[in-house]
Amino acid sequence: MSTRRKFIKNASIIGAGLFLAPQFSYSSNGSKNDKLNIGMIGVGLRGTHHLNNLLLRKDVNITAVCDIDPVRIDLVLKSIENAGAKKPEVFGKNEYDYRNLLALEEVDAVIISTPWLWHTLMTKEAMLANKYAGVEVSAANTLEECWDLVNTHEQTGTHMMILENVNYRRDVMAVLNMVRQNVFDELVHFRCGYQHDLREVKFNNGKQPYGGGVEFGEKSTSEAQWRTLHSVKRNGDVYPTHGIGPIAAMANINRGNRFVSMTSNATKAIGLHNHVVKGGGENHPNAKIKFKQGDVITSVIETANQETIVVTHDCNLPRPYSLGFRVQGANGLWEVDGNRIYIEGKSKPHQWDTATSWLEKYDHPLWKKYGEYAEGAGHGGMDFFVLNAFVESAKQNIAPPMDAYDAAAWSAITPLSEVSIEKNGEPQEFPDFTRGKWVKRQPYNWIKDSH
Ligand SMILES: NC(=O)c1ccc[n+]([C@@H]2O[C@H](COP(=O)([O-])OP(=O)(O)OC[C@H]3O[C@@H](n4cnc5c(N)ncnc54)[C@H](O)[C@@H]3O)[C@@H](O)[C@H]2O)c1
Repeated sequence: MSTRRKFIKNASIIGAGLFLAPQFSYSSNGSKNDKLNIGMIGVGLRGTHHLNNLLLRKDVNITAVCDIDPVRIDLVLKSIENAGAKKPEVFGKNEYDYRNLLALEEVDAVIISTPWLWHTLMTKEAMLANKYAGVEVSAANTLEECWDLVNTHEQTGTHMMILENVNYRRDVMAVLNMVRQNVFDELVHFRCGYQHDLREVKFNNGKQPYGGGVEFGEKSTSEAQWRTLHSVKRNGDVYPTHGIGPIAAMANINRGNRFVSMTSNATKAIGLHNHVVKGGGENHPNAKIKFKQGDVITSVIETANQETIVVTHDCNLPRPYSLGFRVQGANGLWEVDGNRIYIEGKSKPHQWDTATSWLEKYDHPLWKKYGEYAEGAGHGGMDFFVLNAFVESAKQNIAPPMDAYDAAAWSAITPLSEVSIEKNGEPQEFPDFTRGKWVKRQPYNWIKDSH
């Protein structure tokens, strides 16, 4: 019997065991066979981080790893050996060798942490191979890819989860808890975005990922090898999910609500050019490149429930990190910048309160339960939670908290923003990836069902 089928059989025994600490074996008898067998596809910076967090768990085996870079393979094999775990099967002799990993019987689930252009294809083929698929963000680059995820999930009945870790950030989950307890009353408006100075990520000297330098593509390492090209070629919000994921959960997107339409506008593109000139001089070949991606891209989404969501992409200029969250309802609002909140009847009229005591009061049950473990000793904080949700969902073969419909709707912001910008801010309709099911789908219960 496949290990996964055993999990399903055991699910009734465990029942409410969703809150069991991960260091406890999932199995009722603790036998080794009841572990989830995971294959890792892509073990660069992010994949290695996931791997190291997985190696701390007693309920998973890493049975296979795949990466086209032998340096990364050597590194993870050492980590696996140091953790005292069995050597996994190794793949990566070419870009499609992951297909041989997907063919393995002893892989139940895969974690995909490759560059963006591989995400949909690998996730789709994983589902076709009956592997529970976890994919890094974003999940898709085009509307066609968004549909591919949904269609393949529906055709195969196999689940996929978009591994959006920010949905598990402590303040975000506390605010979600406040939303569910109606602290803001009826929701009206949201803001969010990815506002992160990535100049040191998009360029390096080919030795260290963050070691300075102005090279990208083949002369560079890690994300500069592939991410920067998106800024050269595409004028759109290429990384929407860290911002939109948490807001979509609060607004019950695809579960009683949905994204209906969106307008996007982009500023001029000067940040990356200035960075190259500053580091490499005006005569550096990269100083001649005309970057297509506007430095600040602003999208406004309208939802079926008549809320608006402002989504910002701001990664090419000097600035401190912020996801810029704002959650506003009929009774008040929270803003992450300034750590402030205003609730009518509780706050002094027209005056902000610091949000700290509110966030503590509404600390999410998951964080109360696991917070100390997650934040201590490098267990990953929010990354522990997103991985835990993936592992627990895969073990029971149940729908994950963030599914194919979420992956499609959130990722669709990228292609829709590109078209809207191209057409001077013309509104773009979101496809209804649920094909009408959003009307009846129940809100995900992040309090009761979360794991
Ligand atoms: N959620 C987060 O907080 C977070 C943080 C960092 C990165 N990410 C996401 O994780 C993903 C990976 O980012 P990263 O920083 O690890 O990039 P990276 O460039 O360091 O790693 C990507 C790895 O994929 C490998 N790869 C490329 N094509 C492959 C193929 N066909 N088969 C097998 N391996 C292949 C590369 O050799 C590389 O080791 C991206 O989607 C990124 O946006 C998410």
